[in-house]
Amino acid sequence: MPGRELQPYDVIKAKRDGAELAPAVIAAFLEGYLHGRVSEAQMAAFLMAVCFRGMSHRETVALTMAMVASGDTLDLSGIQGPTVDKHSTGGVGDKTSLVLVPLVASAGVRVAKLSGRTLGHTGGTLDKLEAIPGLRTTLSPDELVAQVNRIGCAIASQSARLVPADKRLYALRDQTATVDSVPLIASSVMSKKIAAGSSAIMLDVKVGSGAFMKTLSDARALGRTMVEIGRAAGRRTVAVLTRMDQPLGRAVGNALEVAEAVRTLRGEGPENLEELCLALGARMAVLGGVAETAAAARTILGQRIASGDALRRFAELVAAQGGDPGVVRDPGRLGRAPIVEAVPSAHDGVVEGVDAEMLGNAAILLGAGRTGEHGRIDPSAGLVLERKIGNPVRRGEPLATLHTSDRSRLERAAAMVTAAYRIGVGEFAPGPVVLETIG
Ligand code: URA
Repeated sequence: MPGRELQPYDVIKAKRDGAELAPAVIAAFLEGYLHGRVSEAQMAAFLMAVCFRGMSHRETVALTMAMVASGDTLDLSGIQGPTVDKHSTGGVGDKTSLVLVPLVASAGVRVAKLSGRTLGHTGGTLDKLEAIPGLRTTLSPDELVAQVNRIGCAIASQSARLVPADKRLYALRDQTATVDSVPLIASSVMSKKIAAGSSAIMLDVKVGSGAFMKTLSDARALGRTMVEIGRAAGRRTVAVLTRMDQPLGRAVGNALEVAEAVRTLRGEGPENLEELCLALGARMAVLGGVAETAAAARTILGQRIASGDALRRFAELVAAQGGDPGVVRDPGRLGRAPIVEAVPSAHDGVVEGVDAEMLGNAAILLGAGRTGEHGRIDPSAGLVLERKIGNPVRRGEPLATLHTSDRSRLERAAAMVTAAYRIGVGEFAPGPVVLETIG
């Protein structure tokens, strides 16, 4: 039967019973949903069937391309040279984009990055950047292209006209316990990356207690699916599986993370953040054609940090988007929360593990995220880890420092931080930050 003649009921039933749907059937079903011919209840049932039955490679690509076709796509053909995009599946203290984008741009890679906002317990690059006074993240397509041609990089918000299907599907998935599905996450992420127009895509797939993917095998499945979709859409795509079993670096919260990103661009950042940025940056440099091998690319990126070029490029990006470039010289200008309090350890020992998701939620409670639909972010709120996995601590010494403007939130946040830390006896070491590369 030709795809367009199938009724929504038949499509749901076929998926429920494990049949493979033809690409035209998937496209017609999504189009029907967007135009009111498939009801919310029918789409919810379809999503649940996908959660149970999964999707074949062909189906996942078809869903992704139908989502891309639901709205505008960004035309980056006005940018001279290949463009490389980067996406992280979300973590705690993940300020990687703030470092990576100017770093690789200073090495000659062109990056037109569309970023997201804080989601669940994970932070969003736009909210971090907007902690810089005056900085604008809404750029028109022409402004974006002109800025990348001028300084090699831009970080902007995604227009509502890009992949509108994802907005509707994501809201429905959120209400119907259908977020956790590899084909649904992969099509959601990749439809936005493909619509954003770059010729190559580097995906940072986080694994661990602070990530959406808690196990290596789930992260691997997601990484492989996204790489296959990227290739089917003609984009060079690499996925790097990286550890998120504790926050990246020490800072969690918007202005605190900008300050830590600046220190990293100066070569004074925490080790696991610097290592991650060099590893991911090296892959972006290879995808962007500025180095033949990841090893050669790492050397170039190290030189750009040492020479100050990477930091200067960040100042140029901030100034180009209307922000105060003085914060790059002096992150103290970002402002400090009026209340800063340490959370002491109740035991002597060594940090054996931390629950990164709980620390992310503690930072949100302190004001670093939105707590209601229209909740406002306090840019100076968050926390700083004073101890990380493997560090010794004595009773009474600080595990973390809380930053907030709201004293009433301190007690609950402190209890969350205490519960997030596991203090043991013996020796514990953090594992390597990069676990595996796919593609
Ligand atoms: N991030 C996305 O963009 N989509 C998902 O489905 C999950 C995380």
